[in-house]
Amino acid sequence: MAFPVNRQRRLRRTEALRSLVRETRLTPSGFVYPLFVCPGEAVRKEIRSMPGIFNFSVDEVVKEAHEVYSLGIPAIMLFGLPEVKDEMATGAWIDNGIVQRTARAIKAAVPNLLIMGDVCLCEYMSHGHCGIVKKVGGPTPETQYEIVNDVSLDLLAKTAVSQARAGIDIIAPSDMMDGRIDAIRAALDAHGFENTPIMSYAAKFASGFYGPFREAADSAPAFGDRRSYQMDPANAREAMREIELDVQEGADMIMVKPALPYLDVIAEARMRFDLPLAAYQVSGEFAMIKAAAQNGWIDHDRVMLESLLSIQRAGASIILTYFAKEAAKLIG
Ligand code: PBG
Repeated sequence: MAFPVNRQRRLRRTEALRSLVRETRLTPSGFVYPLFVCPGEAVRKEIRSMPGIFNFSVDEVVKEAHEVYSLGIPAIMLFGLPEVKDEMATGAWIDNGIVQRTARAIKAAVPNLLIMGDVCLCEYMSHGHCGIVKKVGGPTPETQYEIVNDVSLDLLAKTAVSQARAGIDIIAPSDMMDGRIDAIRAALDAHGFENTPIMSYAAKFASGFYGPFREAADSAPAFGDRRSYQMDPANAREAMREIELDVQEGADMIMVKPALPYLDVIAEARMRFDLPLAAYQVSGEFAMIKAAAQNGWIDHDRVMLESLLSIQRAGASIILTYFAKEAAKLIG
């Protein structure tokens, strides 16, 4: 019997054949577009390290939301740059905070666009950490300060409730404090938001790929780093434990972040958990592709779609990506 050496190649000869046998189809219906909102009016300030991505004032972000929705992208993720930062992250949880005001304005203008709210304290803290910080004065630089987990949970829960009250559809905690899903679920339920789902940034790694975001959201830590609460890039099994805890605490959707350097974690999470699985293609992944393309070293559109496809192939059905608009224009 002739060994069927040609069996694979037979189906690759034309685009019609390739399209017929394709296993993964990218559509904008799984995309989430992150948006950064800042104080002021008529502000549209491009982020230096993220070409095509802007800090928008509330009036401008409403226009952007219209465009996003008209491209077939079902959801946005809101990040806020507050007027003032302090040591209680007040701007995160007050009812007229920047994200809350934005959510109301977008809901009024584009009611069918799903709004996700990033729940974290770092953008609102004067020191840029994701929780309340206590000086403990240990003997080494890393032991000078501690993040106080349980007190931080109260502020995160307040943030989630105020976001839900402002009309945010999906609460997305990205802080990586322990027990936050439980605390947020309880607070939402207690305030009548038992139908508001939680998408947990369940496996969030302490990654160098967040660099451009910290410029966009002005949230780089003033001292130390986030390694005491975000995950060690070396650990995939621990990621499964982190996700498991969030599932037990009541997460409705789970997320792995970043995406491309952690495709193994996405694939393993897909096998182990049955909840909707999201992946966040973060700022550094975006910036890397933009920079190489600007230099003429790679083909922008091709690499953009290939990277998104690989994230979906690994098992994520929801992709948070700064490429959402550009990709939707190509494939939508
Ligand atoms: C807030 C948060 C970060 C990102 C999303 N939510 C930054 C961080 O943890 O430092 C990163 C997103 C990106 O890089 O695109 N904690």
